Amino acid sequence: MPTPSVRCETRPFSSPRGGTRGGGGDGSLARTANLFVLGAGVVGKEVLEQVSSLPPQTRPPFVGLRVVGVVTRRGGAFDIRGVNRGILADLLVTRARHPSANGGTTNGASNQLELPARATQLDTLARLGDTVLVDCTAADGMEEVYEEALSRGLHVVTANKKPLVAPRERVERIFAAAARSGASFRYEATVGAGLPIIGTLQGLVRTGDRVRSIECALSGTLGFITNELARGVPLSEAVATAKAAGYTEPDPREDLAGTDVARKAVIVARELGIPLELEDVSLSPLVPAEALGRDEDLDVSLRRLDADFAQRTAALRARGEKLVYLAQIRVGDPKSGRRTEVVVGPQAIPLDHPAASLEGSSALVAITSDRYPVAPLVVRGAGAGGPVTATAVLTDVFLSLQSTPDNREARACAATRSFA
Ligand SMILES: NC(=O)c1ccc[n+]([C@@H]2O[C@H](COP(=O)([O-])OP(=O)(O)OC[C@H]3O[C@@H](n4cnc5c(N)ncnc54)[C@H](OP(=O)(O)O)[C@@H]3O)[C@@H](O)[C@H]2O)c1
Repeated sequence: MPTPSVRCETRPFSSPRGGTRGGGGDGSLARTANLFVLGAGVVGKEVLEQVSSLPPQTRPPFVGLRVVGVVTRRGGAFDIRGVNRGILADLLVTRARHPSANGGTTNGASNQLELPARATQLDTLARLGDTVLVDCTAADGMEEVYEEALSRGLHVVTANKKPLVAPRERVERIFAAAARSGASFRYEATVGAGLPIIGTLQGLVRTGDRVRSIECALSGTLGFITNELARGVPLSEAVATAKAAGYTEPDPREDLAGTDVARKAVIVARELGIPLELEDVSLSPLVPAEALGRDEDLDVSLRRLDADFAQRTAALRARGEKLVYLAQIRVGDPKSGRRTEVVVGPQAIPLDHPAASLEGSSALVAITSDRYPVAPLVVRGAGAGGPVTATAVLTDVFLSLQSTPDNREARACAATRSFA
């Protein structure tokens, strides 16, 4: 992490009623928890905005949130008394002025957190107690950071898929660290942004339902592009519009390759206890990488493919079908020897298929299980965007704080209320 800039502050960044340590019975908060936020892009910035305007709480945990740190690749701020609003505003404004900093893809050594500073910062955060590390980056190598944080008793909430698709044995070490310290590790926002997909699956699995198959449309970007294709828009134009609207990664080749959807499929499959690795996914890109020369202007490559895509979509339309980009998980059955299959790629679907009517960046997950054998359990709605993703992140933050041992105080406060 960049070296913290500890500066004297006058107005700390916290939820409106944060900092109050009342008994709760008078409406004040029982305690204030600390957030250390990694990344202040589309999601991180919205997390900070929602924290600053939380409504009064009517249910436990009666907890306020104080932002004690924000870190981006360009620098950050750290103050255990709460980061100064002015410093934070500067950080966000700088980002807006330098769109190049808006590099959603964060590959490469330059994106690694600075290791020497990290242990010291995590120790400081651990000493604060009641602290949540919130990852709103797409940085590589965060597995180690999570494990170190959880080992110290910090909760970890993440929107970043990458650490969850590391080799399974590596990811299990993160869960083990959480189990040892009793801290929470939550990642609802990694699949379907604000849609309750991970929690729903965890509920089914924990209560003994047997999921048989899951079909999902989980890429807002590819959903937008395939919708445009269906309307007769050329591929190159559809991709250019998606890029201009900010739907794509900085290099749209990454979306077209389908890797992001494959990552989500791995996270979902692992929730079912399937020992899946990323390379086990049968992945077909929407547009093969070979067709998109790395050194060639993307638009030139795409225009070469326009006629082919136009022909394919016209043929589908004539058959009453539509192209969508789906992830399908068919769970194996040890009794019959049927193996689990995870297939990610473009599919021709009939127009009455639930995924055919998805619009914009909407997402859909349909779960068929022993308890939902005929009418699948369907989760559907906006599947991308800062506000909905930040909502999932902060919901995970509150769930983490609810389970924290420090919650004794809040429980006592709730008891006081009920006898008042
Ligand atoms: N956007 C969505 O709708 C959505 C939905 C669900 C999940 N997600 C996930 O949420 C994460 C953030 O997405 P986003 O759209 O907010 O991306 P973004 O706008 O590109 O923002 C990424 C932020 O992370 C910072 N960052 C990158 N590497 C870092 C590092 N090593 N240490 C500290 N900060 C680092 C960047 O710093 P700079 O500002 O200095 O560049 C930037 O502030 C991603 O993992 C994404 O897949 C996004």
